[in-house]
Amino acid sequence: MILVTGGTGYIGSHTVKQLLENGYETVVFDSMELGHPEAVLGGQVFTGDLRDADRINAVFDKYPIDAVVHFAAYASVPDSVANPDKYFTNNIAGGLNLVNAMRAHDVKRIIFSSSAATYGEPLHTPITEDHPQNPTNPYGETKLMFEKILKWYDVAYGIKSVSLRYFNASGADPEGRIGEDHEPEGHLIPLVLQVPLGRRDHVKVFGLDWDTPDGSCVRDYIHVTDLAQAHLLSLKALEGGAQTTAYNLGNGDGQSVKQVIEAAEEVVGKKIKWEPAERRAGDPAKLVASSDKLQKGLGWKPLYAELHTIIEHAWAWHSAHPRGYAK
Ligand code: UFG
Repeated sequence: MILVTGGTGYIGSHTVKQLLENGYETVVFDSMELGHPEAVLGGQVFTGDLRDADRINAVFDKYPIDAVVHFAAYASVPDSVANPDKYFTNNIAGGLNLVNAMRAHDVKRIIFSSSAATYGEPLHTPITEDHPQNPTNPYGETKLMFEKILKWYDVAYGIKSVSLRYFNASGADPEGRIGEDHEPEGHLIPLVLQVPLGRRDHVKVFGLDWDTPDGSCVRDYIHVTDLAQAHLLSLKALEGGAQTTAYNLGNGDGQSVKQVIEAAEEVVGKKIKWEPAERRAGDPAKLVASSDKLQKGLGWKPLYAELHTIIEHAWAWHSAHPRGYAK
């Protein structure tokens, strides 16, 4: 059985779906603070907070867990700058409770949700896994610290891990059963789609004077289903005896904020109003992954690499659920 912490969240719920479709049994461990229980399409659900060591040990006592996929964490960059205490306590102290419970129950495999935020301001693009890691905010710092914890827990205790450094997770389940729903929403594609949904008048473009072809920021948008697929491949690699490592999860292709808005206009068939705004503090101009290691190491191939397809799936979800999971 696979323990999925944070399985009610956006990426966690899409990964649970794929695990179930591939014959795995799952148990989701989640505090229910930010996620959506309706997003878990099957398997077991166990409510608990990682900061409560007894509770995370209880899930290992109850179920025969073979491996862990660890999503549970706070994940907002600006919130982490304002409230680093929350981030270090949940993402690090809570994460330590998890790996210590794994040790106590002799569980030796973990896939960890890391982030492109561990690299900080890029020195070169595309970013390869050996690029220096110098986070520029507490959120990225917690992801880097936990990668290091996992490295030393392998050396001392033989726990093997794969850290997956996500670039910009986006899109929704191609079958339309689950999708993205954050409160408050801070991510570009859902915010852009809120304009044609009538939930906002316009979207702001944070900076038009970046050193990029059209002046707006460039990011590597990866479909959440392709991202979930990489978790499955990582799990199979660990089951086959793979060593501890890290992979970037991106398509290796950059799209600007303006290109995202234009692609969304094509998908929706309407003009989408946008307004220039100040640069957002801490944004790098361009974040694009090299996905070579992932493709060669795990045989990963994106099914939905086209930005147009990513936005089509996002639009199908958001237009069918204009208020997300809320009734
Ligand atoms: N943007 C806008 N207007 C908005 C929202 C975003 O112009 O209203 C721009 C941002 O400046 C950025 C791009 O759209 O250039 C994407 O922004 P998101 O907030 O959607 O995503 P980020 O690239 O900031 O964040 C992602 C992950 C974080 C992670 C970070 C760095 O969501 O968890 O990459 O890896 F920390």
